[in-house]
Amino acid sequence: MDKILVLDFGGQYNQLIARRVREKQVYAQIVAYDRITPEQVLAQGYTGIILTGGPNSVYAPDAPRCTRDMLTLGIPVLGICYGAQLMAYLQGGEVGPSESGSEYGRTRVYTSPCALFEGVEKESTVWMSHTDYVRRVPEGFSVTARTDKCPCAAYCDEERGLYAVQFHPEVTHTQYGGIMLENFLFSVCGCAPTWRMDSFVEDTIAKYRESLAGKRVLLALSGGVDSSVAAVLLHKAIGERLVCVFVDHGLLRKDEGDLVERTFRGQFGLNLIRVNAESRFLSALAGVREPEKKRKIIGEEFIRVFEEEARRLGKIEVLAQGTIYPDVIESGKGDSAVIKSHHNVGGLPDAIDFDELAEPLRDLFKDEVRRAGEELGIPHALVWRQPFPGPGLAVRVIGEITKEKLDILREADAIFREEVETLDEKERPSQYFAVLTDLHSVGVMGDARTYGCTVALRAVTTDDFMTASWTHLPYEVLERASNRITNEVAGVSRVVFDISSKPPATVEWE
Ligand code: XMP
Repeated sequence: MDKILVLDFGGQYNQLIARRVREKQVYAQIVAYDRITPEQVLAQGYTGIILTGGPNSVYAPDAPRCTRDMLTLGIPVLGICYGAQLMAYLQGGEVGPSESGSEYGRTRVYTSPCALFEGVEKESTVWMSHTDYVRRVPEGFSVTARTDKCPCAAYCDEERGLYAVQFHPEVTHTQYGGIMLENFLFSVCGCAPTWRMDSFVEDTIAKYRESLAGKRVLLALSGGVDSSVAAVLLHKAIGERLVCVFVDHGLLRKDEGDLVERTFRGQFGLNLIRVNAESRFLSALAGVREPEKKRKIIGEEFIRVFEEEARRLGKIEVLAQGTIYPDVIESGKGDSAVIKSHHNVGGLPDAIDFDELAEPLRDLFKDEVRRAGEELGIPHALVWRQPFPGPGLAVRVIGEITKEKLDILREADAIFREEVETLDEKERPSQYFAVLTDLHSVGVMGDARTYGCTVALRAVTTDDFMTASWTHLPYEVLERASNRITNEVAGVSRVVFDISSKPPATVEWE
């Protein structure tokens, strides 16, 4: 299978580059710039290399750099943004800040013919985000694009298969970005489009049927997309020998626990154990208000419950997890600041003695996991369900958690979701849910004064959840949701709509 190396210099779009390549059905792997040598690139049989963007100047003393040898392997290279500057720098070109200032956002570009721009109009729109630019291209290279501010927006040496673009072809705002990537993959590198989800599913089942022969496997099923797809995939490979433990921590949405049980035991015939641990989680959380503490308690409690179940089941050789590619990628960025400690249900319990780990999805991006799920026949609603945090409703009940508050939130949240789902699927936000604030306010019902709680409705639209805009939901949807929540859910006297985007707010309130 052809594969592309995405050499990561810490830019913000690096995962996007790999996703775009895979959308063209060519397998791509992201590797940090200092984790692979040119010899390894050759030995591992890469068909092409993409140098990513990055936040640095190539002249900065601690700038991330690969060696010049990376460009002389006889493997085509495409440098993007910082990657384009690095390519010039490594080969004796000159890079520096532009006299006419940085370029940011949609920009007109004028291209001249080369393999990369086959089928691209002479004048088009690209997405720019840079301060430095290539002032002088290295010997043997020619300039193939310019903008009004930047005299070198692309350059190449076609004979050696080296191409560089100052703009970002991976971003959808670049009008012909998809065509440029296709040109690089198929014309320049000569890749075949063989990375497909149906063959991934088939191959993975066959692989695990063999490697897990005779072994028992334990998997923590949360009902989320990743663990669900991993479970069904492994079930197809080893059947009954896959034991799924579903820890119901009592922090799930309305009827969710039953849905998980019905789908996976009923429809797919999975060997599923449901552990009802609501009271245990609620006592561990009693009196706790601080969000990070809640997350920590839930994470630890989850592992403990899971370990107890595992011990009851006797020796199990393999632990399976729904780890996906973004969890695995070693980014060139170093550790980014921890904003919230994302607790993923299914974290590795170290007190149980497993011989091996099975992670069937560790090479897949989220959208690929969903497509694999569809191949496996998992219901549409489950495969495309919106993200739900591992700590569940615990981070949507602000402040102290009680069963009563959880029940109020479950009802309000179900109503809000039902109303949003009257919209066409295409118009729905990426994520939408209710939050129970710890604010009480005065209301009036009949002739009586009430003093009830405040429910906040949250709806965001986003591609990647790193940034998100609040969704402009139709007033009718908000109105129906508000009316129904105040009428149907006892204890709620006020409903508000959250109009904060991320940043500065996060998607979840805690
Ligand atoms: P934030 O609130 O960080 O959320 O903007 C971004 C996305 O991550 C989800 N989220 C979590 N998922 N464990 C998870 O598995 C967590 O602790 C957690 N916190 C937030 C959130 O729902 C959104 O989709």
